[in-house]
Amino acid sequence: MSRYVVLLGTQWGDEGKGKIVDLLTEKADAVVRFQGGHNAGHTLVINGIKTVLHLVPSGAMRPEVECLIGNGVVVNVEQLLKEVRELEEIGICIRDRLMVSPACPLIMPHHIALDIAREAARGEGAIGTTGRGIGPCYEDKVARRGLRLADLMRPDLFAEKLRSVMEYHNFALERYFGAEKVDYRQTLDQAMEQKEMISDLIDDVSTRLYRLRRQGRSVMFEGAQGMLLDVDHGTYPYVTSSNTTAAAAAVGSGIGPLELDHVLGIVKAYTTRVGSGPFPTELFDRVGRHLGDRGHEFGATTGRPRRCGWLDIVALRRTAQVCGLSALCVTKLDVMDGLETVRICTRYELDAQEVDLPPYGAEAMARCRPVYEELPGWERSTAGARSFDELPANARAYLDRMSELCELPVDIVSTGAERDDTIILRHPFD
Ligand code: IMP
Repeated sequence: MSRYVVLLGTQWGDEGKGKIVDLLTEKADAVVRFQGGHNAGHTLVINGIKTVLHLVPSGAMRPEVECLIGNGVVVNVEQLLKEVRELEEIGICIRDRLMVSPACPLIMPHHIALDIAREAARGEGAIGTTGRGIGPCYEDKVARRGLRLADLMRPDLFAEKLRSVMEYHNFALERYFGAEKVDYRQTLDQAMEQKEMISDLIDDVSTRLYRLRRQGRSVMFEGAQGMLLDVDHGTYPYVTSSNTTAAAAAVGSGIGPLELDHVLGIVKAYTTRVGSGPFPTELFDRVGRHLGDRGHEFGATTGRPRRCGWLDIVALRRTAQVCGLSALCVTKLDVMDGLETVRICTRYELDAQEVDLPPYGAEAMARCRPVYEELPGWERSTAGARSFDELPANARAYLDRMSELCELPVDIVSTGAERDDTIILRHPFD
């Protein structure tokens, strides 16, 4: 029986998706990225060796798994080739099982320059982007002036389109932002060099997925960032520039929506956020520091410290609704070990009224005050637990309450960074 499973972050990203995708792909034939770019950072720890992937799908570590990059992903070719090389250096050959869609928009040096210039110009109101050129690249795609991987294969046309788009962006860089312009010749030469190394990786991902389905294979769709960073449903404008919801898995890879069988939402046992924007349950006290220190909460892409806070069920309700979640996978439960009491935000207070769902937009969200339910903490460590019964009773009660409030089953619990530190109650591919 084939199964097409979407796995996505339910919060503001960094829920620990990489480890879970890697673990669950033991039963998958392919892993697909469908949105975002190298703003994502998926950390995998296998046999004590840490690998951070930004673009290559997290199935990379399993030699029999195909890795597909769908049309919804914005691709920085230099970064992609770098990751391929780094994997080869640790003995993982990926070239013959990696495929990138010709429809992927290319992230070019001027996108990065614009991202940085724009953030600087925003001053206090900066979004806190990863500075990888993600937003400007998606803008070019929607404006229908962007360059795509397929364009690289037509050098003359590519050179012409690049000249025109760079004239436009260099004008903005120099004249509007007062920044340095990007050199056309150098950009073109670099792109042509990269073309030689990437051309054999470009193929029709949509057709590949269609065939895999007909052959009865199982596929994992790997989300990047988290639902609350979705450009439509997240805390706009403090969001990323792609759709991070489950439906994006279909659009960003080229399959029909009814092909998706199961949506697994990854939720950290508490909440974190990198970059600016509202975060109602954020903590500035000892508990916040406990979560940040024990959870090693530093961005995998930028190294920035992540803001930490209690679990927010109100925000999760929106994710469950917008993504049609089938079940939850709870990660980093062990980070909460040792807290005397733990809290869950069940409602917000907004304009003297209690609400069950987050309002749309950052301005209203910033005015929300969390209403908490308090539960006793657990003294015994949950780190490395491999069965539900091994967990302390209060940790089990915390998970049960979370499940009840979200009206979703908790199918998987992660209790450490290693592949095996995981409790699987129900495997999404079974
Ligand atoms: P951008 O995606 O670089 O444009 O950044 C927009 C917002 O999304 C910023 O707040 C980033 O910190 C956040 N962001 C982007 N990618 C990730 C990620 O993989 N994890 C967490 N936050 C992210």
